[in-house]
This record gives sequence, C-alpha cells and structure tokens, in this order.
Amino acid sequence: MIRDVLRMGDARLIRRAREVDRFDTRDLHGLVGDLFDTMKAMEGAGLAAPQIGVDLRVVIFGFNASPRYPDAPPIPETVLVNPVLTPLSDEMEDGWEGCLSVPGLRGVVPRYRWLRYTGVDARGQAIDRTVSGFHARVVQHECDHLDGILYPMRVKDFTRFGYQDVLFPGMPDHDD
Ligand code: NI
Repeated sequence: MIRDVLRMGDARLIRRAREVDRFDTRDLHGLVGDLFDTMKAMEGAGLAAPQIGVDLRVVIFGFNASPRYPDAPPIPETVLVNPVLTPLSDEMEDGWEGCLSVPGLRGVVPRYRWLRYTGVDARGQAIDRTVSGFHARVVQHECDHLDGILYPMRVKDFTRFGYQDVLFPGMPDHDD
C-alpha cells in the first residue's frame, strides 16, 4: 500500500527509531511491502520506516535506473533492518542529495566514500556488504533517518542547497 510520506518538521522524523526484535512476521513483511510501494510510486532511491511514521529501524533502497538520479549506477534492491554502519576510511565525498521528506530541494552533502554495512533482512538473514560511492551515500542517507537526521542537517555549504528546478533547470521535474 502506498503510504503518505512525512515532511520535514514532523516530530516523528527527528527521533531515534527502535530496534526490530521480531523477524519474518506478517507486520514486518507488510511494512517492507508498503515501503517499496511508496518508494516506487514516488520514484525514490530509498525510504526509511520513520518517513511513513513507523518507529522502527528498517530502511529499503535500490533501483535499476533512478529518474531522480539519472547518472547513478544501479543498486540492488535491499531491505536492511537494524543496520550498523562502519566507515572504512576518513575519506569524504561531496554529492547531491534529495529526500522525499524534503520535497523540491537538493543539497550537496559530504558522506563517507567507503562503507561497510551490516544488519539483517526482513527474515532475519545477515547482510554484510562493503560499498563505495553512490551506494554508500544512499545507505548513509537512509540510515540517518533512523537516528532522526535529515540531509539538510548535514549540508556544510549552503550555496549548494536550493530548489531543484532552480538549481537544475531543464531537468525532468519530480514531486520531490
Ligand atoms: Ni531521505
């Protein structure tokens, strides 16, 4: 089911979400289904449970081709529960981000370039990946939502933060 996405300013977006402690349940699979339905309807690259008002440490991400990030390489569709992120070096990389909870805006955000992430899927099966670049960026963005952090809170250079249609005139328009 497609759910409403909460927008910045909603208190449910700035709290630390709770750990999941039961796996392979109907509720958890239902939540994951709703997250995918909502992400795909809004052409997002990822979505976190708090964005639909669910206070749990669950994120999804992945796409073959993203209209919102036309130059991005594909990322496998992933359900990540109770994630733990470990940067593998201090190296940071700047890149443009948007967020379905911050419609219409884009900003440049520094993220760790090299990242290991672990966690489990909806069945409780272990996930352990080492990634870089845009994949690492998406995971850091989505997992920030679980700690109540929205990407504008990480913008360092506000000369590179603004409305998508002003920053990138002529780019295809999206709801966000
Ligand atoms: Ni977001």
